[in-house]
Amino acid sequence: MNDLTIARAIHILSIVIWMGGVAFVTLALIPAIRSATFKSEQIAIFNAVENRFAAIARIAVLLAGLSGFYMVFKLDAWDRFYQAQYFWMHAMVLVWLMFVMALFVIEPFFLKDHGRAVKNGHDIGNLRKTHIVHILISILSLITIFVSVLGAHGFFYQ
Ligand code: HEM
Repeated sequence: MNDLTIARAIHILSIVIWMGGVAFVTLALIPAIRSATFKSEQIAIFNAVENRFAAIARIAVLLAGLSGFYMVFKLDAWDRFYQAQYFWMHAMVLVWLMFVMALFVIEPFFLKDHGRAVKNGHDIGNLRKTHIVHILISILSLITIFVSVLGAHGFFYQ
């Protein structure tokens, strides 16, 4: 029982760091560097900060996944994935997979540097698209956290 509780604590700790960072990038970093003051350096600042956070987020995503699957294993909860009232379990795995793709596949192999896209003559539009993507994933992640706490505490099947 102790190990399950420790796994839950690690799960939440990783998610706090990871989602806190995503919220910070979305709500503070991108709006600040999109403002006129930083116009010319916005890509450089974004890359410097985001690349540093991406390294931390990779560790947090790994820990969240390991602790999450450990809990599924210990609770013997695999059959939840076949039941509609456990949609919040699907939501967690979906958000996790999105970030695994973003941090381990898309960013290192395709987007290493947003700056490279600019050098190659592509207009990445003032980080506008980047901001929109961050807003969408933040909303999806926050909803997932909300319904997961409800779900883990029996809200959907009393
Ligand atoms: C591979 C991905 C993941 C797996 C396998 C997983 C699995 C689990 C499991 C088994 C639980 C415990 C449920 C219970 O007590 O009945 C849990 C709780 C939770 N998970 Fe995940 N999870 C994953 C990713 C995520 C992500 C990405 C988020 C955030 C967006 C998240 C947020 C939460 C929250 C908030 C709880 C509730 C903790 C509580 O109130 O006790 N999980 N997760």
